[in-house]
Amino acid sequence: MPTNSEKRYIPGLEGVVAAETRLSSVDGQKGELLIAGFPVEALAANASHEEVAYLLWHGDLPSPSQLADFRQALAARRSLPPATHALLRAAAAEKIPAMDALRMAAGTLNLDAGENLPFTLLARAPLAVTAYWRLRHGREPVAPDPDLGQAANYLYTLTGERPPAARVRALETYLNTVGDHGLNASTFTARTIISTGSDLVSAVAGAIGALKGPRHGGAPGPALQTVFEIGTIDNAEPVLRHKLEAGARLMGFGHRVYKVRDPRAELLSAAAAGLYRSGDAAQGGMPLYELAAHVEKVAVALLEEFKPGRKLQTNVEFYTALLLHGVGLDPDLFAPTFASGRLAGWIGHCLEQQSNNRLIRPQSVYVGERDRQWQPLDQR
Ligand code: ACO
Repeated sequence: MPTNSEKRYIPGLEGVVAAETRLSSVDGQKGELLIAGFPVEALAANASHEEVAYLLWHGDLPSPSQLADFRQALAARRSLPPATHALLRAAAAEKIPAMDALRMAAGTLNLDAGENLPFTLLARAPLAVTAYWRLRHGREPVAPDPDLGQAANYLYTLTGERPPAARVRALETYLNTVGDHGLNASTFTARTIISTGSDLVSAVAGAIGALKGPRHGGAPGPALQTVFEIGTIDNAEPVLRHKLEAGARLMGFGHRVYKVRDPRAELLSAAAAGLYRSGDAAQGGMPLYELAAHVEKVAVALLEEFKPGRKLQTNVEFYTALLLHGVGLDPDLFAPTFASGRLAGWIGHCLEQQSNNRLIRPQSVYVGERDRQWQPLDQR
């Protein structure tokens, strides 16, 4: 065990290896993301989200009968406990952000669930988001449709209407794209919690809290806001330059691991273009897409000018915003929708950690004072 003076502090644990995983591999220099051995590009727009969740939990793609059982197990659990509804109703009265409502609701999702928490959480957490959204807008929650899968039910229970296939596919591509991503902050949080011998509900609730921050999953709302604020192609340069001169961070750019364009940005950009071009987008259209593509180009060039050599490139969040806008989601739903996709990965990582657990317990270097003298209260 190193002494205090021998310990080396690595801020943000940058470059520290804290787990072995079979779930995903992130190569920040090549811009490569593998999900259980598959390039994310092979899965994102082709697989159902249930197939990706199965792959993350079992290490292999399901056969048709395994997939049918998996979908059935989710469908059987896709309803919220009455206490969760009551909590969401109270949260809606306070109009709290949807991500906070999800964090609160997460702790109640297993109330009447019994066994098989992975399925319960995967089926119910997205439902808590959509039920909350309806309650917050004065509408009653809609019961899921047992014939629909994870992505279609998300949109159905949000709007109460059967969603067009193009929107379901766009959302499903998104959920698959963000299903897992190495040892990011929220996944590390989940693994740390489960490593103490705690339970899956606690791990997921903690991960939701970690994902919420703007340096992790909370960026796409502000990223879209910036595109709207810019409004026209001519404004991109002056608005972004002004932000950088004021010391602001451009949301949707920069990444701890990727030093080239995030491969998920490419996938989501293509998915957004496809949705807008199809004419089935719920809001926005090709002019918005073209504006965003221009904003991206200007932002990357300005980041190189302001932060030379930092290699600040587009991350997953920039085109997340554009795609989810086209799917019909309000910016307040972006982060909880990200959580709904990342759930499959969080749960997979918890199962992996449990299968070969060692308590995650790093150390700190003490940099405070020593040899201080106690002073009674009346002498301070
Ligand atoms: N805009 C402007 N400057 C930036 C940005 C940005 N988006 N990102 C990093 N920088 C600058 C920092 O100010 C810093 O500059 P300095 O050295 O002159 O002080 C330098 O680049 C390095 O930044 P760090 O914060 O040390 O890099 P880190 O690896 O911690 O950052 C992070 C990663 C948090 C994602 C950062 O790039 C950021 O804040 N981006 C904006 C928010 C965002 O898009 N978050 C989503 C990330 S993707 C995800 O988690 C799913």
